[in-house]
Amino acid sequence: MNEHLSPDSIGSAADPTAFAFPAQWRDGVYEAIRRRRDVRRFRPDPVSPELLARVLDAAHHAPSVGFMQPWNFIVIADRGTRQQIHELFRRERLAAAQFFDEPRRSQYLSFKLEGILDAPVNICVTCDPTRTGPAVIGRNAIPETDVYSTCCAVQNLWLAARAEGLGVGWVSILKQPQLRSILGIPPHVMPVAYLCLGYPEDLPDEPELERAGWLPRRELQDTIYYETWGQRSHSDWPALHRLLTSPTPPSGPERILDVVRRIGPLDEAAMGAARARLDRLTKPQGSLGRLEELAIKLAGITGTPRPMLGRKAVVVMAADHGVTAEGVSAYPQEVTAQMVLNFLRGGAAINVLARRAGARVVVVDVGVAVDLPPHEALINRKVTHGTRNMAQGPAMSEEEMLAAVVAGMEVVEAEAERGLDLVATGDMGIGNTTASSAIVAAITGRRPIDVTGRGTGINDAGLSRKVAVIELALQVNRPRRDDPLDVLAKVGGLEIAGLVGVILAAAARRIPVLIDGFISGAAALVATELCPPVREYLIAGHSSVEIGHRIMLERMELVPYLNLNLRLGEGTGAAMLMHLVDDALAILGEMATFGEAGVAEQTAGGSDAPAGAGEEGTSAEAIRTGG
Ligand SMILES: Cc1cc2nc3c(=O)[nH]c(=O)nc-3n(C[C@H](O)[C@H](O)[C@H](O)COP(=O)(O)O)c2cc1C
Repeated sequence: MNEHLSPDSIGSAADPTAFAFPAQWRDGVYEAIRRRRDVRRFRPDPVSPELLARVLDAAHHAPSVGFMQPWNFIVIADRGTRQQIHELFRRERLAAAQFFDEPRRSQYLSFKLEGILDAPVNICVTCDPTRTGPAVIGRNAIPETDVYSTCCAVQNLWLAARAEGLGVGWVSILKQPQLRSILGIPPHVMPVAYLCLGYPEDLPDEPELERAGWLPRRELQDTIYYETWGQRSHSDWPALHRLLTSPTPPSGPERILDVVRRIGPLDEAAMGAARARLDRLTKPQGSLGRLEELAIKLAGITGTPRPMLGRKAVVVMAADHGVTAEGVSAYPQEVTAQMVLNFLRGGAAINVLARRAGARVVVVDVGVAVDLPPHEALINRKVTHGTRNMAQGPAMSEEEMLAAVVAGMEVVEAEAERGLDLVATGDMGIGNTTASSAIVAAITGRRPIDVTGRGTGINDAGLSRKVAVIELALQVNRPRRDDPLDVLAKVGGLEIAGLVGVILAAAARRIPVLIDGFISGAAALVATELCPPVREYLIAGHSSVEIGHRIMLERMELVPYLNLNLRLGEGTGAAMLMHLVDDALAILGEMATFGEAGVAEQTAGGSDAPAGAGEEGTSAEAIRTGG
């Protein structure tokens, strides 16, 4: 060992970093951790007794509650014993397969999940809770800490083996009573881990289950909470972090932070229950296609296995765009205000479609260029009289953008007070396809020409001008691609910012959000870039005629439900989707299961469970499988 690596050279209390390992050691620790793999394919080469002793010694140096060292290591080389254990595994693996539906079942069965006979040696690591007597320092509150301690020993062994070039595979698909009996483990001792140990055939860079697409590795940042359960740090949302830590923080980001912090993953249990019920309904499994997927998603969003979403609203955010001065729209700016009045009178397409879907229309002036007469149905949250011309500078200041986002959030809060189970996003703003195209281009890095369409129907010359204006706006403003709020302020719109707020606040309240077309999509894109988990709460209404729409949906990995060549906005496509939402929930809530319909009762013993073996189960099974 050279002097640099001598243990005597480390460890001085004067310097807080003095106990750190020299770089080479430290790297070795991290490498062992990162390169450790669960191994199931082994070479037959034997493991020498010295090597085995080293890895067992590493295991034995694990921490343990009260220093009780509750572990034992049963080293099994005898082939006959291993054959018996392999047989246990084989039986249990087949039994476990029934927990998965196709195609997962076939994939599960295709995995090699043990190396019991291939590895030259197996080790059963046990835990003896009685070791050192009934009183163990630190174990009284959580009795299982002795098992946790044993797991620490297993991990030590696993890492030491990796450093030695050995592979370890943990086999848990074994019934404990039989394992105990084969190995003669007394009743008070618990087998904790059954490990296969030997030289690996291969040591891949990533877990086999990750490589096979079974499950991805979760993002580290999704696993870390601060101070209390579910609390994330604002550094998890870089766009908000930038604003919150700026020398002169604008008002608004804390409100947004409060909301995004509450946006968690979907409720897996509710989705599982909905999925299980759909599978038991009197129809071939999965035969209602994406309607079933929709029902499952709604269950996951709301956290209810059979949701009821009766109270619906279409929130239409209206605002004007300074960029209309560049001649990017077929309609004059005044149309925004005129259409808002039309919404208030109930005469627009969205009014008709929302009425038919049983939804109320909530009209919000978040930045119409003119002052509108007060109206009981108009929510006045005007931030400015339209945005500035993005071809000359930022469309909004950061304060204005944040005020519009907060306005959208507060509209949802107020609507939620009135009762809100389902929200659809709508927009009105002459010039807003230009802003939306600019947002998609800025965030995805695509060329403006690839994401810009004809909006309300401009001609070829108009389209070229629109593309050039977007190019200019991106050049002048240089929005930061990795900062969705910067993009929103510089080349977005007030109604788009308002919709970002609507989306975030709805997701935080576990209210499903039906996203209309291109403009709503731009808002959804900003919201998902800001807070990726929000994506799970979004349901894409339809596929817009605007060419940038497909690109934003791809980025968000959302597949629209309708394809009707719509290009109106206002929330029309989302309102139409409400009927499908009703249908999906009615199927989930009202359709009979095999058991309820008496199909299984009469033919397979009255259970909702998959039909039993033999002739009696045939009819239910045949319907289920489409046979
Ligand atoms: C408690 C425990 C039990 C496991 N049981 C099995 C098993 O029965 N069969 C198997 O193939 N892998 C088993 N594994 C291995 C995991 O599948 C594997 O650790 C995980 O996919 C991550 O891969 P990696 O260990 O290569 O990083 C087990 C792992 C642990 C921690």
